[in-house]
Amino acid sequence: MYSEKVIDHFSNPRNVGEIENPSGVGTVGNAKCGDIMRIYLDIDEQEVIRGCKFKTFGCGAAIATSSMATELVIGKTVQEAMEVTNQAVMEALDGLPPVKVHCSLLAEEAIHAALWDYSQKNHVLIEGLEEPKNELT
Ligand code: FES
Repeated sequence: MYSEKVIDHFSNPRNVGEIENPSGVGTVGNAKCGDIMRIYLDIDEQEVIRGCKFKTFGCGAAIATSSMATELVIGKTVQEAMEVTNQAVMEALDGLPPVKVHCSLLAEEAIHAALWDYSQKNHVLIEGLEEPKNELT
């Protein structure tokens, strides 16, 4: 039921941990299952994401999507990172079972929350980015 890529990223997640003094950090939760995801971003002067780490207290699909999402945003500009949608993360993982699609939304929301934090602190406009609705503090 899970693709090999999902199993790989779940068993061997990339970029787990924290970034000290992050450029942006976002924490979101899923009200239904109670799972929580936090994303840290390290962004350089050119607005390129040079580091991204995550901590996820959640299911296997949430861990696999967080791991893949961090890999997809590293090296992108903050604007390009907006293209890392839950759809893009799922495609990169060769799909998720339908009941697990909501888990991939957490990764997109956590990235957006971290980008929002960065944009507010640095007065940077990121097109299409909205204030996160389910951010946890
Ligand atoms: Fe909660 Fe997957 S079941 S994020």
